[in-house]
Order: sequence, then C-alpha cells, then structure tokens
Amino acid sequence: MDQANSLRQMVSTRTSQLKRQISPQKTKSKGKEPPRVFSITSGKGGVGKTNIAGNLAVAFTELGKNVVIFDADLGLANIDIIFNVHPPYNISNVISGEKKLAEIMVEVTPGIRIIPAGSGFANLTYLTDGQKLNLLTEFDEIGDKIDIFIIDTGAGISSNVLYFNLAADDCILIATPEPTSITDAYAMTKVMSQQHNTKHFKLLVNMVENVEEAKKVYKNLVNAADKFLHDVVIEYLGYIPYDNSLKMSVRNRTPVMKMYPDSASSKSIKKIAGDLIKSARRFDSDGNIKFFFKRYIEERLSHGSNI
Ligand SMILES: Nc1ncnc2c1ncn2[C@@H]1O[C@H](COP(=O)(O)OP(=O)(O)O)[C@@H](O)[C@H]1O
Ligand SMILES: [Mg+2]
Repeated sequence: MDQANSLRQMVSTRTSQLKRQISPQKTKSKGKEPPRVFSITSGKGGVGKTNIAGNLAVAFTELGKNVVIFDADLGLANIDIIFNVHPPYNISNVISGEKKLAEIMVEVTPGIRIIPAGSGFANLTYLTDGQKLNLLTEFDEIGDKIDIFIIDTGAGISSNVLYFNLAADDCILIATPEPTSITDAYAMTKVMSQQHNTKHFKLLVNMVENVEEAKKVYKNLVNAADKFLHDVVIEYLGYIPYDNSLKMSVRNRTPVMKMYPDSASSKSIKKIAGDLIKSARRFDSDGNIKFFFKRYIEERLSHGSNI
C-alpha cells in the first residue's frame, strides 16, 4: 500500500470513529453537542477580524460558553495582543510534535483559551501527512471541552484562509464601507463558492457610522453576488459602529467588551453573539462531524490529492 493509500485508510477509520462518537444518541446521552465552529474572515486586512474574534469570545463567555480562539493568522496584530498575553508556545510546537495542543493553549480570561499562531502554519500544504494526522487527532481531543471554536483567519484568498473557512460551520465575513473591502469580500465569496462549494456567509459590517451605512454595504455585496454568483446566500449578521472606545481598548490591550462594556461597539458585539448562538447550526451534507482538520483532509482526499 502506498503512503497516500495508507493515510486515506487511517483517516477513514478515524472518520468512522468520529461519526460514531457524535451520533445523535451518543450526543444526547452526553448532553453535549460538538462545538460550533465560526470562522472570522475577510477579503481585505485591517477590517477588525482579530478584535471581533476576541470580543465575540468575551460576549460568548458572558452567555456561559467555553470558547477557544484559534489564531490562524500570521500577521502582526494577533489575538494574544488583544488579550495582552505572551504565549511561550504556539501551534508550531504541536506540528513538530514537541507539545500537545492542550499544553500550548493559553487561558486569557476565564472561559477563553487561545491557540497561538505559529510559523508552521504559513502553508498547510507543506505539512507532512504524519503531521496532519497528528493535528487531526489533537484537535479532535480538545473538542469535547469546547462550546465555541472561533478561527481568526488571515485576510485574502490564500489556500489556508479558504480551508479554514471551509472547515467552519459558519463563515463570518467582515467588511467595512471602504469600496476595496467590499470588492475583496465579493472575491472571497466567489472563490469559496466556485472552488469550495461554500454557499453560505454571514456578513458583519464593521466601522460604520450607522445602520443605514451597514445596510448599504450589505446591499452592494448582495447585488454583486446575485448578479454573478447565482447560488450564494449572504445573511446580514449585523454591524459594529466605528467607535473610539474600541481604539482606546486596543491601545490598552484589553478587549473593548471588558474595558468599555457599555460602549456602542460592545453593545453591538453582545447582540451579535446572542444572535449567533440562537442561529440554527448548519449541518453539512456529511452530518455534524466535528473539527476542521478532518474536513480539510477529507476535502483533499476527495480531490484525489496526495494530501
Ligand atoms: N469598530 C471599530 N471602530 C474603530 N476602530 C476599529 C474598529 N474595528 C477595528 N478598528 C481598528 O482597526 C484596527 C485593526 O483591527 P484588527 O482587528 O487588527 O483587524 P484585522 O484582524 O482584520 O487585520 C484596530 O487596531 C482598531 O484600531
Ligand atoms: Mg488580524
């Protein structure tokens, strides 16, 4: 058996195990659903993804949820900065096999753990099969203790960003009123729908003056999608106003939800977090299977790729 075949078999065995683990009866008897996976993504950088990921996480904990934020962006303004922590290890140490995923995760505030970014993730395609399989198992093992898993993807349509979006139950697309942000958001929906069969998006408009401006951004994006991409559904999730309190909190390395809980941006974030929790979980065609590495590997296998 060649290497790809044997890996395929291992993944398939692992997949059946996972499916059994989360079969409806089992899930019911444990009283615990698999975590919801939200990706926070954008076509353009600097639109507020990392702040939104961190602050949504705080809002989720206020609703009694256990959250993990996976920093999948190698950019400069990372999630650890938002929470003012200096993690000693990162995902690269897991990829190299030195550490378990549970060992590199850092609790930044009660109910929120982060998985710090590492250069090992610069290009997923460079990981060896063994490394991918190891990660698959690692992510699977932490799944039971999490209610919500947030992936802060980088910006743009690189293959990493696309795969993280593909892996999420819900892809939350961030745009601002800037024209380039809207065209880049459109490009993201186009590539995701045409190359990865992802048709559902939730749009969150950041840094707006008022609701009218947010709705205008939504309309522009939907008009373009309706015209050129026939089967894409973009839901309006809400907006966050441009808010100096948020800027101040960034400077203080504290999430605005903690520093200024009554600010306009915090109020919007709270509402959005509540709406997200209430929103129906989207099930993919292969059921509510958990965790994205498995989906990543399966997708590669289904394309006949040597993963
Ligand atoms: N709602 C907002 N109001 C005011 N400034 C904002 C808002 N959202 C983001 N910003 C500013 O934009 C900067 C970039 O945000 P960040 O979350 O790092 O974006 P990204 O992760 O998309 O690159 C922040 O440091 C902050 O100064
Ligand atoms: Mg960021």
